Amino acid sequence: MNRQALEETANAMVAPGRGILAMDESHPTCTRRFDSIGVDCNEDSRRAYRGLLVTAPGAAEHLSGYILFDETLRQSTDAGDRFPDLIESSGSIPGIKVDTGTIDMPLHPGEKYTRGLDGLDERLIEYRDLGARFAKWRAVITIGDGIPSSACIDANMWALAMYASFCQDAGIVPIVEPEILMDGAHDIETCDFASRATLNALFSALYRQNVHIEGTVLKASMVLSGSDCPVQASDGEIAEKTIECLRDTVPAALPGVVFLSGGQTALQSTVRLNSMNASGADLPWRLSFSYGRALQDPALRTWNGSADNAAEAQRQLALRARANGAATLGEYSPSMEEAA
Ligand code: 13P
Repeated sequence: MNRQALEETANAMVAPGRGILAMDESHPTCTRRFDSIGVDCNEDSRRAYRGLLVTAPGAAEHLSGYILFDETLRQSTDAGDRFPDLIESSGSIPGIKVDTGTIDMPLHPGEKYTRGLDGLDERLIEYRDLGARFAKWRAVITIGDGIPSSACIDANMWALAMYASFCQDAGIVPIVEPEILMDGAHDIETCDFASRATLNALFSALYRQNVHIEGTVLKASMVLSGSDCPVQASDGEIAEKTIECLRDTVPAALPGVVFLSGGQTALQSTVRLNSMNASGADLPWRLSFSYGRALQDPALRTWNGSADNAAEAQRQLALRARANGAATLGEYSPSMEEAA
């Protein structure tokens, strides 16, 4: 394992003022997103849409990395430029989602298990040769009646650690993502409890499998109220609880934490990240973003499947990238939205 190379990449992924664009939707997820704007999801439409994302003027400046899906890592623009090459030449880092999705966890109603370890070592070598320098694996933790179970947390955190060790062995920085779903009527305390149990199990599994923490990036969910909870925590409370939770569970050796948006609006995702970074808290790791929907939604709606809207969609992506880049420094201001 080349520890120094892993550390350099991990640090570049969380460089001040920059964050990561998640554009690694599997075909079923991409189909859901395209259905919402009435666009057929096929190889050409995915290539057109994702091509506009990776070539958006002014976005890469605020984007340290782009998480791609298998198909996208192999695609090119009409001019024949491979997407990972374009990302690399714009000064950002190409990454790849390597889990193969979730299944219902056997004997554990309501819970999920993430698959993808079989053959992962070989896939990572191929992905590295295609240009990927980091990878992502998402585990899903559901809050509900009597869940998450410790069996679900342990099985998924073990798999995340196993994935991370395969990545580092192949010279690829692992993003470890244990997403605590927002769905449900639970309160913020319940989310906090589930987040702590999950992160404690994750880091214990990473240590046991000799994963180099300095060459790893955590993708976390914010600590917040369930989407159906009658009492919604304020942005300030979310920022405070999230920082407290991470402080208690995440080792100082980690270079950075990047958040997923998970169903928060684009604006909420920006404001809450900014609130954490503007809090003045002395934190041992950087706090940044790896948003999918919160970065893409305005661009996706503007694009609406038409090449005529591509330039305006690119402006929408660059605007969100810039706003979130500022939020990593605690320097976001709502006036940045007015430029839209
Ligand atoms: P969202 O920001 O849309 O939750 O997606 C982030 C992601 O990559 C989840 O794995």
